[in-house]
Amino acid sequence: MATFTLLDGRSMPVLGYGTWRCDAALLHDSVIAAVKSGFRHFDCAAMYFNEGVVGKALQLCIQDGLVKREDLFITSKIMPTDMHVHKLEPALTKTLQAIGLGGYIDLYLLHWPFRFVEKPSAFPVPEAERLGYDAAAILDIWRELERFVDNGWIKSLGVSNFSRKKLGLLFAEARHKPVNNQLEMHPALQQQAVVDWHAERGIVITCYCPLGSPARPPTFRHGDKDPSFLDHPTILSIAQGHGKTPAQVLLKWAIARGTVPLPKSTTAARIVENYGAADPAWTLTREEMEAMKALDEGYRLSRGESYAPAGMEWTQLWDEDL
Ligand code: A2P
Repeated sequence: MATFTLLDGRSMPVLGYGTWRCDAALLHDSVIAAVKSGFRHFDCAAMYFNEGVVGKALQLCIQDGLVKREDLFITSKIMPTDMHVHKLEPALTKTLQAIGLGGYIDLYLLHWPFRFVEKPSAFPVPEAERLGYDAAAILDIWRELERFVDNGWIKSLGVSNFSRKKLGLLFAEARHKPVNNQLEMHPALQQQAVVDWHAERGIVITCYCPLGSPARPPTFRHGDKDPSFLDHPTILSIAQGHGKTPAQVLLKWAIARGTVPLPKSTTAARIVENYGAADPAWTLTREEMEAMKALDEGYRLSRGESYAPAGMEWTQLWDEDL
């Protein structure tokens, strides 16, 4: 698979396998199916509570000679409850043990720029226990994570759900620059100015909900409009023209924009289908890319409401990138 070069010189495959909200009973076999299809990039997170399943399946793939560790690109993310300097090493250790692949992670992200207290009384975390955003605290956390890069536990560092404003502050101060920002991105939330800003700095964007998350939870549905792409006439027509599926068009579109989509699927045939989006033998035309521009609605599925501290509206979480 083609790769994008990260700011630190490492390579990231242009398409990854997402693991959020995967049915745990299906995930093990799905990860193996993904490796057999050709996927090498796996997007995990402590907050998905399934890193051990992904790790075990990948370990089996290595044992069976399907793939080598050095050909895998594994991401994990630190959760907001662990975003306290003294909790970083135990949290990373737990993830490294769960994944169990050579004692290192390829990419480690701050899952959100918003922190929670260390021991919340409940999940979802009550408003009073959400600490919000604190640039100085983020920088202290980053300094500690940089130490883990120096000692080889983390190969590359990045963030997720950071606005340009928040990432810009961190980028200016970081010794090991953030190489990646993972953001919600699909035709209804194209964020072209955000894509351009990252490209100018060489920061790769990975995209969550690249298919518009068709089975998304109610908290990702906002009543007034509720976009669906797999049956959208524009996408259906482009797909038919290429003899491809709507999902493949959505993923190809993301790659063509210089971003890295992370589709989730626990259906064997769809895993193979999604991998086919990275096939360089087909591309979208300029006209098709233009036609997809018209689907932009600035519509955010993951608004981050459950991260907003008391007294703050979710709309304020995203700064000028709302
Ligand atoms: P399933 O896991 O049952 O295959 P997103 O990555 O945007 O969050 O979307 C994930 C959702 O899209 C899952 O519900 C997944 O279902 C479904 N999905 C994944 N790949 C495809 C595909 N190629 N065609 C249709 N639906 C898909």
